[in-house]
Amino acid sequence: MRMKSWLATLALVSVSGSGAIAQADAAATYDKMCKSCHGADGKGDAAKAKALKIAPEKLNLGRAEAANLSRDDLKKILLDGKEKMPGYAKKVKPDEVDALVDHSMKLAAAIRGK
Ligand code: HEC
Repeated sequence: MRMKSWLATLALVSVSGSGAIAQADAAATYDKMCKSCHGADGKGDAAKAKALKIAPEKLNLGRAEAANLSRDDLKKILLDGKEKMPGYAKKVKPDEVDALVDHSMKLAAAIRGK
């Protein structure tokens, strides 16, 4: 019986696939590399904005000005950087880029209430 439930757990872990695992990694990477500016919830860190001499809203991933950016636009900003946003092309693993964009979009959607 115990062995059976252990096997069931193992089966569940394998069917959840690499997508779920990449997403968990992205959240951890976000906390490590992005939270200092964008905040844990993506709404932005006011003290950091002040230090960077930019409006606090610029660090809010759910800000209205960014609402019309496509997934490709966001990916480009993440890889190449834009103004005070550093480029991460050389800092994140290639297989983490899409998961990080997904994570950013998820936070932005939550902020926008969609
Ligand atoms: C040093 C502060 C800083 C760090 C660290 C940072 N960002 Fe940004 N990020 C910014 C700024 C500032 C902008 C707005 C750029 C502009 O002026 O258009 C931005 C913009 C973005 C955008 C485009 C959407 C928007 O609101 O303009 C995404 C997506 C994004 N960041 C994701 C991330 C991710 C993911 C990480 C971590 C891997 C990260 N950022 C780390 C400062 C930062």
